[in-house]
Amino acid sequence: MQLMEPGLESPLTREFDVARIRGDFPILDLKVNGRPLIYFDNAASSQMPQPVIDRLVRYQTTQHANVNRGVHYLSETATAEYEEARCKLQRFIHAREAREIIFTSGTTDAINLVMHGYGRRFIGAGDEIILTTLEHHSNIVPWQMLAEEKGARIRVVPVNDAGELLVDQYEALFSERTRLVGVLHVSNALGTINPIKSMVAYAHAHGVPVLVDGAQGAPHMNVDVQDLDCDFYTFSGHKMCGPTGIGILYGKAELLERMQPYRGGGDMILSVTFEKTTYNTLPHKFEAGTPPIAAAIGLGAAVDYLLGVGMESIATHESSLLAHATARIGHVPGVRIIGTAAAKTAVLSFEVEGVHPHDIGTLLNQEGVAVRTGHHCVQPVMARFRVPATTRASFAFYNTIAEVDSFIESLRAVREIFVP
Ligand code: ALA
Repeated sequence: MQLMEPGLESPLTREFDVARIRGDFPILDLKVNGRPLIYFDNAASSQMPQPVIDRLVRYQTTQHANVNRGVHYLSETATAEYEEARCKLQRFIHAREAREIIFTSGTTDAINLVMHGYGRRFIGAGDEIILTTLEHHSNIVPWQMLAEEKGARIRVVPVNDAGELLVDQYEALFSERTRLVGVLHVSNALGTINPIKSMVAYAHAHGVPVLVDGAQGAPHMNVDVQDLDCDFYTFSGHKMCGPTGIGILYGKAELLERMQPYRGGGDMILSVTFEKTTYNTLPHKFEAGTPPIAAAIGLGAAVDYLLGVGMESIATHESSLLAHATARIGHVPGVRIIGTAAAKTAVLSFEVEGVHPHDIGTLLNQEGVAVRTGHHCVQPVMARFRVPATTRASFAFYNTIAEVDSFIESLRAVREIFVP
């Protein structure tokens, strides 16, 4: 990849018109500690553009009522908008059918749904679940809870020093007892993009379904679940310009049909007596109670916005930000980048010799720069790289090369305070 001179926008970046895009994000005009906000904590939560904010206001001011419950105008309108949002999400990830899209409260909730609905029914004593060292706690802890309850066993795929999965070791972990693979599409801490398609193909050759945690994949690249052929794909609205409190579980219809409901309550039933309850059809079987209607519609608007910008353009711009940041941070003394995979999204995790990550984060904040410091909910990754924590800058398509340059200058200044 060709790197740019510091401070210059690439031709691609100019064509992309990042200034116009930034105009859609009111929060980017904020000043923090008297300095223009530089928001590099996008892997934790992205920001929301005006069209999504406007959509939420329009829903709340002209369309709000409960869904699936009324014959009146507003209830029918809200239901139609909610279901239209589901169709937008279906198209966004190229799912075969809208009923394969389940609204959840986020990725964590979606994974817990699979654990309860699939895991508790189909995974038993002595069975094995393959996870990877890179997993977020949300794709570890639910499976540990299941393993403890059932007497099942977790096997873990190791990574190399670049933070790439050791695929031969992944393959070696399969046995007759393997019942599920859980793997994240993209590492939130390191940015590694995993070879999902070939991992799924290998698992399927052994009759094993695969759950992909796509929380850091869906916001940054075109995702085609039919092409990946994964059995489940999960992601969160708030990492892709949508609201918090909304996420998606995609599941192949035939698997979702065989699964137990996760939560019982209104809307997920066809009939209830004290003797027996029959469950509703997909997707309602998994959406008990009043769903996050506004958030789902907001996420539909976020998907429209992302597709308007273009997922290819987003990926290209973000990769130019990463290349530039990687080249420039390499000139800051004492920096070690953690996560140097050949295939990466725009996540730059690093440590600076002699400076604690929390001090870096605090001092960068004084300069208006928002980064995340800590273990990033991936303590096994921190253990693998023998660090207690890292500083992580994670970029979005509305970030600029100039912001990266300011961040690097601030980082250099922070280091000089501690290591003059
Ligand atoms: N999982 C989110 C992150 O990586 C919160 O920051």
